[in-house]
Amino acid sequence: MKILITGCKGQLGTELQKQLRLGKSELGPIPEKLRSATVIPVDLPELDISDYRAVVEFVRRHHPDVIINCAAYTNVDGCETHHDDAFKANAIGPRNLAQAAEKVGARLVHVSTDYVFSGRENGGVPHDEAALPGPISAYGSTKLLGEQYVAQFCHRHFIVRTAWLYSYYGKNIVKTVVNAGRKYGRLEFVSDQLGNPTNAVDLAHELLQLCVTHEYGLYHCTGEGVCSWYDFACEIVRLAGVDAVVTPCTTAQYKAKHPESTDRPAWSALDNRMLRCTIGNDMRDWKQALAAFFEHWDGDNGMKD
Ligand SMILES: NC(=O)c1ccc[n+]([C@@H]2O[C@H](COP(=O)([O-])OP(=O)(O)OC[C@H]3O[C@@H](n4cnc5c(N)ncnc54)[C@H](OP(=O)(O)O)[C@@H]3O)[C@@H](O)[C@H]2O)c1
Repeated sequence: MKILITGCKGQLGTELQKQLRLGKSELGPIPEKLRSATVIPVDLPELDISDYRAVVEFVRRHHPDVIINCAAYTNVDGCETHHDDAFKANAIGPRNLAQAAEKVGARLVHVSTDYVFSGRENGGVPHDEAALPGPISAYGSTKLLGEQYVAQFCHRHFIVRTAWLYSYYGKNIVKTVVNAGRKYGRLEFVSDQLGNPTNAVDLAHELLQLCVTHEYGLYHCTGEGVCSWYDFACEIVRLAGVDAVVTPCTTAQYKAKHPESTDRPAWSALDNRMLRCTIGNDMRDWKQALAAFFEHWDGDNGMKD
């Protein structure tokens, strides 16, 4: 079994490699079939997924059984100002990988986002996989197009939407809150945007369980439970033991202070219905997964143990 991981230096790509190396995650063993897998990790500058020829040539040369695409342009504000770059990485890249996977008969696991949704509240019900997307940002619209290309060009696909992702590796909101809390002692977060914080450990664990099955299709895969960015920041500060005051604000108040910031969906909570109805939903409650993060995090860019 050969697994190609694109965007391997990012949060999710690094976590996936760790679980494949150890043969397990914090949540349990990885599937038997993957324990002796050959892992081919790749990122910029070695492989730019938006380069069609390079992608097809790379995939033909390595002939993977599974491709897990963790590469993306993930800076939501940056996607507005660098729309072409976002389009290349988030839409054309997945298209290229889908075509290349199809040529060699590989499965493609493609990771997408809750920001494909508009944010219109659904009577307080999290969106399942049947809900209609309607992105309101360049990040959301380029990621949605990437999903559509994957579904169109690769038969054996798993499109997996996640949200509010954090990990031991790389930059993310948890580390930002801890560092800013320590530095400034006060933080302000919006309390009217709701979603699901997701630990990359849980996401990687589910992706590895899923990729050896034939349960192809569209999945939501986020931490269980819904909260606001304000709730999330309060819990981070509490668990990290940071001496900082977190104040809630509305999106309108935040926007007045940061007019350049991109609109984000107010309600992008996801329901992991497909996981529940197929391989099982092992995603932890967001507070439990966050507590586990603080047990293992080395305070920098990795794990204690
Ligand atoms: N982070 C979140 O909160 C979040 C939320 C929802 C969904 N997701 C999705 O989850 C997936 C993984 O996210 P992540 O947080 O692990 O991302 P990440 O840490 O930003 O890592 C993405 C990696 O992809 C690389 N990359 C960018 N453009 C590329 C290209 N054209 N060709 C090849 N590699 C390229 C990046 O390299 P550079 O760093 O050099 O650009 C980086 O190493 C993505 O699909 C993302 O859209 C993330």
